Amino acid sequence: MRKQWHLVAALCALVAVLAGTVVALAYASAESGRVRAEATIEPVGDTGPEQTALHETAAPEQSAEAPAVAIPSPTEAAPEETLPPLSSIDEDELNGPESTLAYDDSPMVALTFDDGPYRGVTDAILDVVEQYKDYGVKVTFFALGLQIKQYPELVKRAYELGCEIGNHTYDHKRLTKLSESRAKAEVEDVNDMLREITGESAALVRPPYGSRNDKLAELLSYPFILWDVDTRDWATRNADSTLSAALECVDGDIVLMHDVHSDTAEAVARIIPELIARGYKLVTVSELFEAKGIQLEPGVAYRHAR
Ligand code: NI
Repeated sequence: MRKQWHLVAALCALVAVLAGTVVALAYASAESGRVRAEATIEPVGDTGPEQTALHETAAPEQSAEAPAVAIPSPTEAAPEETLPPLSSIDEDELNGPESTLAYDDSPMVALTFDDGPYRGVTDAILDVVEQYKDYGVKVTFFALGLQIKQYPELVKRAYELGCEIGNHTYDHKRLTKLSESRAKAEVEDVNDMLREITGESAALVRPPYGSRNDKLAELLSYPFILWDVDTRDWATRNADSTLSAALECVDGDIVLMHDVHSDTAEAVARIIPELIARGYKLVTVSELFEAKGIQLEPGVAYRHAR
């Protein structure tokens, strides 16, 4: 009888040890799975070694390749996903316009391109925007009516990629030298064309040469968007110098380039990955002001969002 009891006790102990081992193994495996899962959702703005590798490997000859860093899937990266519905947010938590909630604290700039669209350049810039779309990269084109007429498909592609189309007038006349009706037509003709192509007018005007006066401010009911980082790409016609001029930007800046020179497109293939590597978000002009909580007013000129 005592022998049997010993045997039962020994069997019970063995079963207990085996069960303990199985539980411990299962826990260890679940834990390592969780750690692996966490490691793949590094924030985009992180400037760790992987991001450094991105800008080092982003030479123009490699621009057709996928970015070297692990990109979170768009659903993980979309800021809206992490936000509670507006109705559940306490009124006191709202600082300024509701829409600013969709942005984090990353520094941001708006890259802008004037005088296009132009085949071979605008599409090359859009290729880069598309390549980095998982980083939410968008740019703004201040398009000319004459060019829109020639390349409506480029406008459509830019719009479909989430880029902003601004109004740079029909044929680049100095608006302050025109009659009121002529000046108004220079802007409104372009908006008519844009509505045909995208269904939307431009919300922003960049007057040619940045030229404006009080009369124009009263006449045109749009904000005037100027710039504070001038790459002078049209004068230097050199990708290296456009790159180093663009990289002078700081948070809230509007950078001026022209999508009519192939060396500008070459520079953009390096500017975009470099700014991402430095932790910048590349947004449209409207998004930049929205994120900074600045309400754009008609007839007022803006050089940056600060
Ligand atoms: Ni221009």
